[in-house]
Amino acid sequence: MKILLMGPPGAGKGSQAQRLIDEYDLAHISTGEMFRESYQRGETLGIEAMRYIKNGNLVSDDITNEIVRKRLFEDGDTKNVLLDGYPRTVKQAQALDHMLDKMNSKLTAVVNIVVDEEVILERMVGRRVCKDCGQTYHTTFKPPKVEGVCDICGGELYQRQDDKPESVRNRLNIYESKTKPIIDYYKGRGVLVNINGMQSFEAVYRDIVKAVGELS
Ligand code: AP5
Ligand code: MG
Repeated sequence: MKILLMGPPGAGKGSQAQRLIDEYDLAHISTGEMFRESYQRGETLGIEAMRYIKNGNLVSDDITNEIVRKRLFEDGDTKNVLLDGYPRTVKQAQALDHMLDKMNSKLTAVVNIVVDEEVILERMVGRRVCKDCGQTYHTTFKPPKVEGVCDICGGELYQRQDDKPESVRNRLNIYESKTKPIIDYYKGRGVLVNINGMQSFEAVYRDIVKAVGELS
């Protein structure tokens, strides 16, 4: 099974991914998380990528395609995967098709989470992420039991550098111009499904599971 989660920044891709990977036993491939982890490890790749990420710009297609290729072909079992935030340009979508062809595989479902801009801004402002395990919270919609502390591992919660208003605006513009056209790229393949992301976590999850079940 290969599921692709699409949607604007803050749509809830990461939140839904955390449950979907358990439900379907999927390897989670989030290019954003891979870049952030690499940065935290002090690697050149992560430091270079963060120069773009912190201002809300995209990392180059070549660098991004290469980390996904490595993950798919060199890192153990990737028969069942959940792609979160990749591809993000038509060039990346073409590169992914090429990789899947080589694996004799194809996408089971392209899940597009639809959320209005107003809701996105509210979600970004309140998002907090665990420094240690990456668990995502929201100060209003999903607060941790103890402020600033991860419920799961006790790690410190922080606000992502790219969640400041100027970066968020740039990310939304880039989503419109570079990422949204991918929806057309996948139209006509019979795998694209739009999900209303402006519902409770539970309702969004239920709709995704239902859609994936129908496409599997
Ligand atoms: P990435 O980390 O992928 O960021 P993104 O796509 O902008 O999406 P987010 O992670 O911000 O949002 P999300 O949809 O995961 O929402 P979440 O579940 O956290 O990428 C970061 C950067 O890396 C990019 O900007 C780019 O620079 C670079 N990059 C990554 N991939 C790349 C690629 N392929 N090519 C080039 N560059 C790349 O939810 C958000 C908040 O809302 C949370 O607080 C959550 O608790 C809350 N929330 C979620 N769902 C609900 C709900 N149903 N109700 C109430 N609150 C909710
Ligand atoms: Mg995310």
